[in-house]
Amino acid sequence: MNRFEDNNWCEKMRIHLDFNNVMVDFIGDKEGIKQSQFENLSEKIKHCANQLAVKRDNGKMDWRNLPYNQPIDEILDYVKQMKDDIESFVLLGIGGSALGPIALQQAINHPYYNELPREKRNYPKFYVADNVDPERLVYLFDVIDIDKTLFNVVSKSGNTSETMSQFMIIKDMLEKRLGKEHAKKHIVCTTDSENGNLIKIAKLEGYKTFYIPSGVGGRFSQLTPVGLLAAAFCAINIKELLAGAAFMDKICTSDPENNIAVKFAVINYLAMQSGKNISVMMPYADSLKFISDWYAQLWAESLGKAVDNENRTVNVGQTPVKALGVTDQHSQVQLYNEGPYDKIITFIRVENYRKTISVPKIFSDMPSLSFLGGITHNQLIQVEQEATEFALSKLNRMNMTIVLPQVNEFVLGQLFYMLEVATAFAGELLNINAFNQPGVEEAKNATYAMFGKPGYEDKKNELDNAPKKNPNYYL
Ligand code: PA5
Repeated sequence: MNRFEDNNWCEKMRIHLDFNNVMVDFIGDKEGIKQSQFENLSEKIKHCANQLAVKRDNGKMDWRNLPYNQPIDEILDYVKQMKDDIESFVLLGIGGSALGPIALQQAINHPYYNELPREKRNYPKFYVADNVDPERLVYLFDVIDIDKTLFNVVSKSGNTSETMSQFMIIKDMLEKRLGKEHAKKHIVCTTDSENGNLIKIAKLEGYKTFYIPSGVGGRFSQLTPVGLLAAAFCAINIKELLAGAAFMDKICTSDPENNIAVKFAVINYLAMQSGKNISVMMPYADSLKFISDWYAQLWAESLGKAVDNENRTVNVGQTPVKALGVTDQHSQVQLYNEGPYDKIITFIRVENYRKTISVPKIFSDMPSLSFLGGITHNQLIQVEQEATEFALSKLNRMNMTIVLPQVNEFVLGQLFYMLEVATAFAGELLNINAFNQPGVEEAKNATYAMFGKPGYEDKKNELDNAPKKNPNYYL
């Protein structure tokens, strides 16, 4: 029996939200939330929960069903067939097609995964090429042998310039080195089953392909083959990951108006109403550092919108800030404690770390150091988190804590799913479309126009006529 089939174990692994420190009882009348504010929102919360349930029933939120319908066996069979023939797995993708895979791999795997000897890893090394910084891509070729690498081209739209240009470089290199027929075996695509250039090319070339369900947008795609294939290629248990997501789905569905995801959304909504336009995500675990990156995209791209559902100008959203405990206690926390009252800080606390290390009892003649002797780093990191919470709360700074019993696939599945539901719920509370990203189109189109992409002639014209930069403003 898998551990995720044992209800007792699942309950022990349940994630929680401690929101004491956003309430008036702990941070005072001026900054805190009153219980009556939750009560006043009760009708709106019910309405939003109903709206989302209807959208799900009408097939408009396919990402909610991902824990149940993904091609797990096909992914695992493919990984089994390929893994021993390759030394490296390189994901080419950006935004929602890269941040989830990075966050999960960093969370679950050994922090020095690629440096471990193959016998210990048993699976290929893992790399992600998301940016088009030329240095990064060229340097990648210094550490991988492309003859022994599988490139996973991930793009929902199948048209993203960054990913497609990387793919073009790799395809050309592989074919020149190995010939067209052999090159094919080194490319696997993850994309929409019908739309975009990537699926056209994949069909034409006969590449192995996994599909992103059509109703699932980039930043909600971590539980599709976007995240699952990369995870399975680094020995991550994807069945357990999806079981964790399904567990969280049940929590959110059986208590649609008062679950951890809705509470997270409602607290942030109230925070935004009181001018807290910055959302700091601060895990106290190096393994979760990249969860903040994934969350930043999810929260920013989903909620940062100019107009509401009735097309009225609203310019809403919260700026996500990525922080890491305890590292950022020595950098950003000064600002959180004493700067403007414009933030809500979410800690992620880990109850049980996978390793323990103790400080030796030395320097007994130096009391200002010897107090550290005998304590573990596990205690130190947790106590520092509690101390930071205490200091922030004393200064009436809104903060709350997502509590993870430990870092494993089941818990990560819950965390991804919970934050996705929270984001959708916050979008509903704000009455905006959380699933589009019109604000990134302008720069994309301008790039296309500058490179002369057909269909962008008007944009090119607009760019040519834009105000020229003033040399006086350049030093
Ligand atoms: O969330 C989103 O939709 C975006 O961030 C996309 O994931 C990103 O732009 C990459 O798009 P694609 O997967 O189509 O290449």
